[in-house]
Amino acid sequence: MASRIAEVLEIRPSDRTADIGCGTGLFAREVADLVHPQLPLQCVDPSAAMLKQLDASASLLPVQASAEDLAEQRVRLPHGPLDAVWMKEAVHHVADRAATLAGLAELLAPGGRLLIVMLPATIEYPLFSEALKRYEALQPDPAGIAEHLTAAGLRTSLTYVEHQLTLNTERYLAMVRARYMSLLSMFNDEEIEAGIEEIRAHHPEPELRFPDRFAFILGRRDDVPPSSAPSDASGGAG
Ligand SMILES: C[S@@+](CC[C@H](N)C(=O)[O-])C[C@H]1O[C@@H](n2cnc3c(N)ncnc32)[C@H](O)[C@@H]1O
Repeated sequence: MASRIAEVLEIRPSDRTADIGCGTGLFAREVADLVHPQLPLQCVDPSAAMLKQLDASASLLPVQASAEDLAEQRVRLPHGPLDAVWMKEAVHHVADRAATLAGLAELLAPGGRLLIVMLPATIEYPLFSEALKRYEALQPDPAGIAEHLTAAGLRTSLTYVEHQLTLNTERYLAMVRARYMSLLSMFNDEEIEAGIEEIRAHHPEPELRFPDRFAFILGRRDDVPPSSAPSDASGGAG
């Protein structure tokens, strides 16, 4: 995942970068190890508890803020404008996605890239039916996210990346009990246990195999810097 993010964003060592909704910084750490950024990778998350788990490293700079804080410029990143920025599995937390993504697009330098990585509108995880139903009701459609990036003036592409996961069934059930997806925190202990029984009934096999699919929505700011833009020779008509 980290190398795919670095590759799609074409991150160069000199780029000013940010991981918005970075969580514990797992992917930021791996991207920094791959890219060796000259400036620290700015790890943005509204949760102090998440940021506390970030590796202490000169190549990672924690910034406590939400995507909305950046988009509305309530918080300014020390290293901007941005050349490469990504938001992985966090866009569903944003309430006004059109406005926030437009605000984030404004933070891009000319030629800057903004990548949204997210689960698709439907998933084939071996979860219980009520969890899958709730997921489908809540998860934004990647095509809608792509439309927001286009509306924000970015040249946008949407691709899907899929790989097969194989997990020991008991291990997966323990992950469900530990509410490994934030979606599962909507269910109380009794509902989770009933859900686990439902999964067991549908999957008596010792190992679960299922596809993990991610949408990659890339937006690129194509405009040229003001200094190299052709000047208006008309003298101003209006
Ligand atoms: C599912 S985790 C993803 C973490 C990391 N990007 C990853 O893929 O491992 C979602 C993260 O989004 C953060 N988050 C929640 N609301 C947010 C917002 N409005 N703006 C940015 N991040 C947000 C949460 O604190 C959490 O760390």
